[in-house]
Amino acid sequence: MARGADSGYESRVGSVSGSGFEREVDLEVLVIGSGGREHALVWKLARSPEVSKVWCAPGNGGISTHGECVPIPVDDSDGLLAFAKEKKIGLTVVGPEKPLCDGLVDRFRKAGLLAFGPSRKAARIEGSKAWCRELCARHHIPSPQSWTFHDIAKANAFLENYQEPRLVVKASGLAAGKGVTICKSKAEARKAVSDCLEGASFGEAGRTVVLEQFLEGEELSMLALTDGQTIVPLETAKDHKAAFEGDKGPNTGGMGAVSPAPAANARTLKQVESQVLVQGIHALGMEGAPYQGVLYAGLMVTPLGPRVLEFNCRFGDPEAQVLLFRLESDLLPYLVAAAENRLESMNEGVSWDPRPAATVVAVADDYPGNYRKGQRIHGLELCPEEEDFVIFHSGTRRGPEGNLFTNGGRVFAVTAKAATMDAALGRCYEALEKVRFPGMRFRRDIGKRKWEA
Ligand code: GLY
Repeated sequence: MARGADSGYESRVGSVSGSGFEREVDLEVLVIGSGGREHALVWKLARSPEVSKVWCAPGNGGISTHGECVPIPVDDSDGLLAFAKEKKIGLTVVGPEKPLCDGLVDRFRKAGLLAFGPSRKAARIEGSKAWCRELCARHHIPSPQSWTFHDIAKANAFLENYQEPRLVVKASGLAAGKGVTICKSKAEARKAVSDCLEGASFGEAGRTVVLEQFLEGEELSMLALTDGQTIVPLETAKDHKAAFEGDKGPNTGGMGAVSPAPAANARTLKQVESQVLVQGIHALGMEGAPYQGVLYAGLMVTPLGPRVLEFNCRFGDPEAQVLLFRLESDLLPYLVAAAENRLESMNEGVSWDPRPAATVVAVADDYPGNYRKGQRIHGLELCPEEEDFVIFHSGTRRGPEGNLFTNGGRVFAVTAKAATMDAALGRCYEALEKVRFPGMRFRRDIGKRKWEA
């Protein structure tokens, strides 16, 4: 499998044909989703000289600054398909995992529309943690030890004999970033297993539980664009998943991220590229689920080398915010080439702003638990977009007068790049001082390594 970062894409005016798709270069693009990741995608695609308009369904209170939002929910595949046909959308980019796992890209492709993202079959790498672990084992992808259970008695019997106090408990299905519990004792592990298998916390997603060996090390996210044959690895990032400072509290979708990741070094990246990304895509192809889209490897860099904590079938959130803010190349030609199975034809390497970037997420009071919505947000107008600073919205909506209100757990992410990571973080925290909504909180230790926090 080739690495496609240095091959030959030429921007052309007129019409481009490839793999049966004819597209105008003056494209209208549809991004599906409503989070910070989708705002970052809309922001980046709107800057492409080949894009005439970016639509977002359903979008959020901030996306309308860079594109036009249409109120079609992500699970309304009929509505999304009809809209894409009516507007003659040239490329649809599906942001979140749920519609990917439900087969939205398959529906678009069947209808002859170009869509970026994996098929339902390939998205199973995120949709079923149990299947992902089996795949990794069959194809020797470096991973923590893991055990899958459907039955509470068998899971408890396993826990009784497990020697280590720490263990990771995962709901096998999709749980909106909240299905992972890092347990420090057997009692915590028993409770987490019971919450999945017997409780209502995760519904169907928790009917199968995956127990994993706890690994010490430094986290690293590495993503690659792929058409199933060629990969274009992106820069690295590190997400901070725990709700509170010092990596305390429950896991969230992500409270902030930095790029590059502190654990990234040439040797590790080479290992991740060959043993994880190339091997993962090869494995999916071998198992009849060829992968097109962006493959996200969430890793722990251990003294024995990188280990896969998870594979996701989409851009990370908030990793997308820092990665797309640092990406200097036009994203559109890469997404089109991946969707058209011709990533190998891309001659130009992806170029990156060498400056590090940071993003800090402002969340609602009790996120990821029960949080309030509908709180008025003040002060965002005091933080205008600049060349090295932007705010990506997640859970926001605009009221009738144009005022902004909270509409989710993660509300917005301040994102900056600068000559040093400390300066980028300083810029983020300075902006956060100007914005407020009742119950707003954020982590003050984004970018710090565990022992510095
Ligand atoms: N930031 C973690 C994720 O996107 O799954």
